[in-house]
Parts: sequence; C-alpha cells; structure tokens
Amino acid sequence: MYTIFSKLLVALATFLPLTFVTAIPPTLKRTPNDYTPLSPSPSIIQQELGLCLSKNASLYFPSSPKFQNYTLRWSAAMDPDFAVVVVPAADREVSCTVKFATKYNVPFLTVNQAHGTASALSNVYNGIEIYVSALNSIDIALDGNSALMGGGTYQDQVVTYLAAHGKTASTGACGCVGMMGPGLGGGFGRYQGYFGLVLDNIISMNVVLANGSMVTVSASSNPDLYWGMRGAGHNFGIVTSFNYKIHDQPVVDWFVETMIFTADKLEAFFEKLNALGANGTQPVGLFTYTLFAMSPEISKTEPVIIFTLEYAGTKAQAEPLYTPFLTLNPVVTTNVTVPYTGVAHASGAGVEDPLCAKGDSWKTFPVGLQVYNIATNRAIYNIYSKMISENPEFNNSVVQFEAYSMQAVKAVDPASTAYAHRADNLLVSFATVYPANHTLDAIADTYGKQARGVLHAGDAPGRPLNTYVNYASTDETPEQMYGYEPWRLAKLRALKKKYDPNGRFNFYAPVNP
Ligand SMILES: Cc1cc2nc3c(=O)[nH]c(=O)nc-3n(C[C@H](O)[C@H](O)[C@H](O)COP(=O)(O)OP(=O)(O)OC[C@H]3O[C@@H](n4cnc5c(N)ncnc54)[C@H](O)[C@@H]3O)c2cc1C
Ligand SMILES: *[C@@H]1O[C@H](CO)[C@@H](O)[C@H](O)[C@H]1NC(C)=O
Ligand SMILES: *[C@@H]1O[C@H](CO)[C@@H](O)[C@H](O)[C@H]1NC(C)=O
Ligand SMILES: *[C@@H]1O[C@H](CO)[C@@H](O)[C@H](O)[C@H]1NC(C)=O
Ligand SMILES: *[C@@H]1O[C@H](CO)[C@@H](O)[C@H](O)[C@H]1NC(C)=O
Ligand SMILES: *[C@@H]1O[C@H](CO)[C@@H](O)[C@H](O)[C@H]1NC(C)=O
Ligand SMILES: *[C@@H]1O[C@H](CO)[C@@H](O)[C@H](O)[C@H]1NC(C)=O
Ligand SMILES: *[C@@H]1O[C@H](CO)[C@@H](O)[C@H](O)[C@H]1NC(C)=O
Repeated sequence: MYTIFSKLLVALATFLPLTFVTAIPPTLKRTPNDYTPLSPSPSIIQQELGLCLSKNASLYFPSSPKFQNYTLRWSAAMDPDFAVVVVPAADREVSCTVKFATKYNVPFLTVNQAHGTASALSNVYNGIEIYVSALNSIDIALDGNSALMGGGTYQDQVVTYLAAHGKTASTGACGCVGMMGPGLGGGFGRYQGYFGLVLDNIISMNVVLANGSMVTVSASSNPDLYWGMRGAGHNFGIVTSFNYKIHDQPVVDWFVETMIFTADKLEAFFEKLNALGANGTQPVGLFTYTLFAMSPEISKTEPVIIFTLEYAGTKAQAEPLYTPFLTLNPVVTTNVTVPYTGVAHASGAGVEDPLCAKGDSWKTFPVGLQVYNIATNRAIYNIYSKMISENPEFNNSVVQFEAYSMQAVKAVDPASTAYAHRADNLLVSFATVYPANHTLDAIADTYGKQARGVLHAGDAPGRPLNTYVNYASTDETPEQMYGYEPWRLAKLRALKKKYDPNGRFNFYAPVNP
C-alpha cells in the first residue's frame, strides 16, 4: 500500500518543517508526558519510513481499523503502547525501520504471534511495532537436512509444512507460538528429547542489530552473538530469517491419552508421575502435561487434575506408560491416535483452541525443577483453590506441570549456549488468567509469587530458583532467567555493551534491567 503515497510524500517532504527531536532513553518508565510531544508525527513517519518501505509492506496508524487487530496480544496484562505498526516484507525494511527508530529515539518492539508475557513489554510507550509475521517463508534445502525459515514463522505453520514434505523439527508444543519468540530463549516442545531445544537446532540467523546493520550470526560469523542469541536472543536483534535443522519424522502418528482425577488422588498421582519421569530420563518422545484446573462438569468447587500423556508411538507402545495411572480410577479417560500435525489440537493447544485465544490477561509464574515434591504440589493445589474461591473471575487459571523428554537437551554442553537451565527436567507454572483489567494484576502477583516461593522452598536444598525466560511475567531477576554462574551474565552483559549499548532491545527480559 505504500508507494501509492510515497511519491506524493517525497514532494511534501520538501515543504514540511522537520520536527525537533531530543534523545529519550528508550527504557524510561512509560509516562505519556515524557514522550508525546517528542515522538515523530504521523506525517514524519509516513514521509521517512514510508520512503524505505516497498509496496509489499504496510504501515498502520491507530486510526486504522486494522491497527487494533495487529496490536492485540495474548495477554492484556502486558500492554506495550504503539504509535504505528510497520509490517515489513523484506529484511532491508526491518533494517530501515530500526534505523528510523534509532534516529528519532523511538522505542520499537518486534512482534510475531504476540504471546510474550515479559513484564518489560509494558515499558514501550508511543513506540513502533515491527510486526514480522509477513517474513514467513520456508525453503527446505536440497539435502533435506535444513530449511531457511523467516523470522515470522510459527509452530503450526512449520509443523504442517514440514510434515507435508515428510520432515519435522523441534518446535514449541503449542500451535500458536512463534519459532523465534520461544527459540531465542529456549523453545520447549515434543521433539526436544530427539532433537534438542529449538535453539539447539539453529544453524545460523540473519539479524538486524540495534544500529540497523544486517549481519549473519553463526558458529563462524559473529560467534559471540551466536552463543548469546541462543538463550538470551531477544536482547540483541531482530531475526529476519534463520537456517534451521530439520529431521526425518521419527513416527507419523502420536498417541494422546487424557485422564481426569479428583484431588483425593493428588499424592498417588504425583508419585506415579515421578516414577514415569524418572528424574529427567523418561522415554524419548514422551511428553506429560498436567493441569490443576476447574472443570465445572465434575465439580463447581473442587479443582481437578487433568493429565495428558503424549507419546511418539502407538497405543500399544504407550500402554506400559499410562496403565499405572488407570489404577487410580480417573473420572474421565479418552485417547486418540493422530498424525503429529494434530497433536497440539488433540491436547488442547492447537491454534483453534481457547488456550491460543487473545485478549484476556495472563500472568505466569514459572519454576524449573527436577522432580515433583508431592507435599509441595498439595500446597500449590490449596493456594490455587483458595485463589479461585476468593476470586471467581480467575476461574480459568491453571497450574501447569510440563515434563518433556530431555535426552537430546542434556546431550548439549551447557556452556555452549546462553541457555542455562538444561538440568531442569520439569517446568511448573502457576498460570493466572482473568478479565483484562489492571486492577486485578495485583491478585495474580500475590498468588503467583506465593506459589513460586512454595515451589522453590520444596525443591532440593541448594537448587536456586530457575525461571524460564519465556514464561516470566513479573519480577524475575536476570540470574533466575539466564543462570547464576557469574560468567554467564558477565558474558551476556559484555555482548550487550557491544551490540546494544543503548538498550533498544530491553523490552523483553533484559540482561541489564
Ligand atoms: C499459549 C502459549 C503456549 C506456549 N507454548 C510454549 C511452548 O510450547 N514452548 C515454549 O518454549 N514456550 C511456549 N510458550 C511461551 C513462548 O515461548 C513465549 O510466549 C514467546 O514469547 C512467544 O513468542 P511469540 O512469537 O508467540 O510472541 P511475541 O510476543 O510476538 O514474541 C515474544 C518476543 O520475542 C521476540 N521476538 C519474536 N520474534 C522475533 C524475531 N523474529 N527476532 C527477534 N526477536 C523476536 C520479541 O522480543 C518479542 O517481544 C507459550 C506461550 C503461550 C502464551
Ligand atoms: C513484492 O512481492 C512480490 C510477490 O511476492 C515480489 O515478486 C516482489 O519482488 C516484491 N516487491 C518488492 C519491491 O519487494
Ligand atoms: C485481523 O482480523 C482478520 C479478520 O478478522 C483476521 O483474519 C486476522 O487474522 C487478524 N489479524 C491479526 C493480526 O490478529
Ligand atoms: C536427579 O538427577 C540429578 C542429576 O541429573 C541429580 O543431581 C539429582 O540428585 C537427582 N535427584 C533425585 C531426586 O534423584
Ligand atoms: C481408548 O479409547 C477407546 C475408544 O474410545 C476406549 O474404548 C478405551 O477404553 C480407551 N482406553 C484408554 C486407556 O483410555
Ligand atoms: C467461570 O465462571 C463463569 C461465570 O460464572 C462460568 O460461566 C464458567 O463456566 C466458569 N469456568 C470455569 C472453567 O470454571
Ligand atoms: C476491574 O476490577 C476491579 C476489581 O474487581 C473492579 O472494581 C472494576 O470495576 C473492574 N473494572 C472494569 C472496567 O471492569
Ligand atoms: C553496528 O553495530 C555493530 C556491532 O556493534 C558494529 O560492528 C557495526 O560497525 C555498526 N554499524 C554501523 C554502521 O555503525
């Protein structure tokens, strides 16, 4: 849509006075008065930014009906504020947008699937949203071992495309999440026991840096950044495309079993789950996903335990894995065998499922563990139950217990990437959801932080509080997200000084808050 205007604007630009712009540190706390008079006006944005965009790109201002829809987020608790949305169609357009933002000292944020929950997102005020979802091409290499993927690709798209070519890859588990959003900080999913985390499969990335330069990041090109972007990548640049390892499908069909238990089975259930998880050595291709949730059909007052076992194999092969749980007399059991492309939906995490829907407020409080502490999980159940009974508008909240297979994740030298938590086998998160209303954020924080503290207190003595960066939504420290070994943060902060000295990428889990 852009060139229609740009010729006219070139002419106009000659006559319009340049807006006076002073430097504003982009990480300043958001206060409208600090920013409003200083940001470039829509006409400056149209003139200058419009000139560097091709007709395949788009710009949306708040007056456009589409603006709403491009800025809607999964969690309304984080509300970055934008003056304009840019939808680049090529990497050089990402680059010139960043140069423009830098010139005028305007905050900018990369957005793909808009599922991020980092608390710093709310510090964006009057910024530029760089909506990268149009950069979504996938090209499989001739040898079939890798694919060049756009920085705006997402899980369901990648899984579906690769399956149609007999291939698969490490991706997030949920159909609606991006590849790079999760991948730059880890990227947990069903195939990680076979292939490693998403970040373990990145061969190279084409990246726009804070000063707008375009660079390749790989083991041989900017290797320091290759280390840092695999774990703390959101801090350093915008990935326009990446070369990614792909693999033959280990199986075509997956088996998915769901059971629902009443809470009197909680202790016996987690005993069996610990036995199955075997401290990070459960079978490759097994993923268990357990929730505390309200299920009004079963009880209006007592939360239940919803257990989903997903396995890269047949029902017969999975039988020894699920049979021990059947002896606990679940109130509901269902099972289905589906092609891998259908597993996300079969487990309630498909693009069409409520979990992927945008607009409510969510805050998640993640803790990385090795084994479940059963008394702790009872205490968490009680906290969850109390939160819902005292705050009925939180009744869609859940506590998530995720256990992915770990073999290929643990096979990678922990020092070789910036991802610090390879020793954690389990991801437990107290996930609050409530109507979009900031007054309620404090309730989420109160219960979430209490639960996080209880989970940590019940962990093995000496283990620090580890929080998955991509689930962080409140006051997590850099150590909790990026690791406690002092050399890790020292290295990340040195990289920050070199590649993003002005903290332009500080709106998502900054290494230097
Ligand atoms: C429903 C749901 C399911 C989830 N499931 C999983 C899961 O299975 N596994 C898992 O590991 N995590 C999962 N997560 C967490 C997920 O990793 C984060 O929410 C992640 O931020 C989502 O990325 P996005 O593209 O969807 O969101 P966005 O908000 O668009 O992106 C998040 C951040 O990533 C950065 N970013 C995105 N794209 C780029 C790019 N191309 N270049 C540079 N930076 C970029 C930006 O800083 C942005 O703020 C899930 C989250 C939700 C809400
Ligand atoms: C716009 O997109 C079309 C179709 O993808 C492509 O052929 C063309 O080269 C693009 N134009 C520019 C200026 O990028
Ligand atoms: C915007 O709305 C249209 C129509 O409802 C929808 O198809 C599209 O996916 C939406 N885009 C975003 C970014 O939400
Ligand atoms: C789990 O395994 C780790 C090593 O990976 C070990 O340090 C820890 O003690 C084990 N925990 C239990 C409870 O067995
Ligand atoms: C699996 O599903 C079949 C058909 O619906 C059902 O008969 C069987 O009892 C289920 N088994 C388990 C273990 O859930
Ligand atoms: C939450 O409460 C609303 C309103 O009372 C109700 O309609 C809905 O079914 C409840 N949902 C759950 C999961 O309990
Ligand atoms: C937000 O929540 C508070 C506390 O429950 C309530 O008083 C207020 O009316 C809510 N605001 C809106 C707009 O719903
Ligand atoms: C941009 O930043 C990189 C990394 O610090 C640096 O190597 C490069 O020279 C800079 N480019 C320009 C044009 O300043």
